[in-house]
Amino acid sequence: MITFDNVSKSYGNAHLAVNAVSMEIAQGELFVLLGTSGSGKTTLLRMINRLEDPSSGTITVDGKSIMLQDPVELRRNIGYSVQGTRLFPHMTIGENIAITPSLLGWDNQRIINRVNLLLEMVGLDPHLYVHRYPSELSGGQNQRVGVARAIAADPPVILMDEPFGAIDPITRERLQDEFLSLQAQLKKTVVFVTHDIFEAFKLGDRIAILNEGVVQQVGTPEEISSIPASRFVLDFLGQNRILLLLQNRRVNELERDYDPVAPYSGIDSRYTLDAQDSLAAALDKFRSSHTRRLPVRSGNEVVGSLTVESVTNHLIPVDKLMEDAV
Ligand SMILES: Nc1ncnc2c1ncn2[C@@H]1O[C@H](COP(=O)(O)OP(=O)(O)OP(=O)(O)O)[C@@H](O)[C@H]1O
Ligand SMILES: [Mg+2]
Repeated sequence: MITFDNVSKSYGNAHLAVNAVSMEIAQGELFVLLGTSGSGKTTLLRMINRLEDPSSGTITVDGKSIMLQDPVELRRNIGYSVQGTRLFPHMTIGENIAITPSLLGWDNQRIINRVNLLLEMVGLDPHLYVHRYPSELSGGQNQRVGVARAIAADPPVILMDEPFGAIDPITRERLQDEFLSLQAQLKKTVVFVTHDIFEAFKLGDRIAILNEGVVQQVGTPEEISSIPASRFVLDFLGQNRILLLLQNRRVNELERDYDPVAPYSGIDSRYTLDAQDSLAAALDKFRSSHTRRLPVRSGNEVVGSLTVESVTNHLIPVDKLMEDAV
C-alpha cells in the first residue's frame, strides 16, 4: 500500500507543484492520476520512488516512510516507466530490458526468457527487435520497450508515466487491453499517469483527478462519472461525461424497465442486448438495428425486452443527483 499524508512539493518558487495531497493506494490496485498538463502528476509519481523529495508531508510504502528507506533498495521494488521514455542508445533493445534483472543477478537463460516474453507482451516480435538499437525503432516502439523495461524484474509496485502517450489509437487500445489482462493476473500496485480521460476511465480501479497540484476527487470511474465532486471535475469531464456514464453502466441496471413479454421468436444475436452490455454498446445496437425495442438476453435466456427510451431516461435522474451534489 502507498499512502500520501498531507504531501506538498514546491520547486523553490511560490507556486506549489503538489498541494496538500492525502490519499491511499491499495495493494493490487490500478490507480490512475488524471489531470491537465502541469497539474503535478509526474511530480507525485517521482516522489514515490524518491526521484524528488516532498517539501512537507509523509509518503509511506508498505507502512514505512520512504524517507527512512534506502533509495536504491526502494527503487529495486518499484518499476518506473518514464514519460517520453529514453532508452540507453548504446544498448540493444534486449539489453535495455535486461538492465534490472542483470543487476539482480538473474541467470542468463531466465533473462532471455523474460525479455522474449515481455517483447511479445508489448507487441514486438523478439526475433525482429531484440538485437536492434533504440534509434532503429519508432517513437511508439521505443515507448513500448520502456514499459517492458519497467516491469522486467517483476516488481510489486509499478509507476507508469503516460506509457501509451505517443502511440496511435488502435495500437494504444490493444496495449491497454493487454495491460488490463496482465494486471488481472498479476495484481500489481500500479500508479498510472495519463491526461486521457477515456484511458483513465478504462484502466483505473480508482482515479484521482488533479488540478494545479490539488486532488479534486478520488473515486471509481462509476463514482466520478455519476457524481463529480466539484465544479472543476464537472467542467473537466465536460460532454465526455455522458459517454463515460454510458460506458460505465450496464443493461442489467435497467432490469426494472424490462418488458417481460419479449416480442421476438427467432433471435438475431447481433441485435440482442446482453444483460452485461454497457449502455453505450446497447445504444449502438439500437442504432444499427434501426429499432426502438430489442430483446435482452441473460446467459442463453431471453429475459425480456427494452426500449431505447428507457436507456436515455436512465441518465436523467443521474444528472439531478449531480446538480444537487456540486
Ligand atoms: N524540476 C522542476 N523545477 C521547477 N518546476 C518544476 C520542475 N518539474 C516540474 N515543475 C513544475 O511543477 C508543476 C507540475 O509539473 P509536473 O511535471 O508534475 O506536471 P504534469 O502533471 O506531469 O504535466 P504533464 O502532463 O505536462 O506531464 C508544473 O508547473 C511544472 O512547471
Ligand atoms: Mg508529466
